[in-house]
Amino acid sequence: MRKNIVAGNWKMNTTVPEGIALAKDVVAASAKVPASVKLIIATPFTHLVPVADVVKGSVVSLSAENCADKEKGAYTGEVSAAMLASAGCEYTILGHSERRQYYGETDEKLVEKTKLALANGLKVILCVGENLEEREAGKHFDVCKSQTENVLYNFSEEDLKNIVIAYEPVWAIGTGKTATAEQAEEIHAFIRKVVADKFGAKAAEDMSILYGGSCKPSNAKELFAQKDIDGGLIGGAALKAEDFIQIALSF
Ligand code: PGA
Repeated sequence: MRKNIVAGNWKMNTTVPEGIALAKDVVAASAKVPASVKLIIATPFTHLVPVADVVKGSVVSLSAENCADKEKGAYTGEVSAAMLASAGCEYTILGHSERRQYYGETDEKLVEKTKLALANGLKVILCVGENLEEREAGKHFDVCKSQTENVLYNFSEEDLKNIVIAYEPVWAIGTGKTATAEQAEEIHAFIRKVVADKFGAKAAEDMSILYGGSCKPSNAKELFAQKDIDGGLIGGAALKAEDFIQIALSF
């Protein structure tokens, strides 16, 4: 059985003290969330060590937002998967559209990053999704298929147990425009089929596929009610503990 997951992606928001306070609020409110829902918060690198302390012993798991595509050494400014694991991370987000768009993250780099993350015991939240131009040109299925295949098909069925996919249509991220539940479900089911084509129906059934893009308390219920939507990757609404927990209560 696949897990329901609600993951907060804080992006480049909050100072360290603000982040600690937010994490404390999330931990305090997490008691309301049933054990069937996995809660994750992904924070900036600077916040990981103190926030790891805050979430210790709670049901909230810690994630990074990115990791390096190199193991270690002379790569100024980079943070390795081993560093993240040693800081207390259980997960890392990889391939977020903002990384792809602004920092030249390619599928090839994502294969390296995913290998290193898994080798260091991290679970991966791999993001895929089309931009507005691609959606309008009717290329959304092709884009999601190639982004999924280009990374996932380099891994084994065993590795897949530690990978979660997040479908995030770029046109819905931070825009207030959410994909309709039907639009999202259609792509989720399609991505699950792309997974099944290589790894079989069982592996695809067991994989959690999250929706991201202006997911909030008012629309989470309808999205999460879809058969192939197993939760959300939440940006803006994750910056308020109350909204984030409300979303987690929407299954
Ligand atoms: P948003 O961001 O919820 O603010 O649209 C989602 C994401 O980019 O992960």
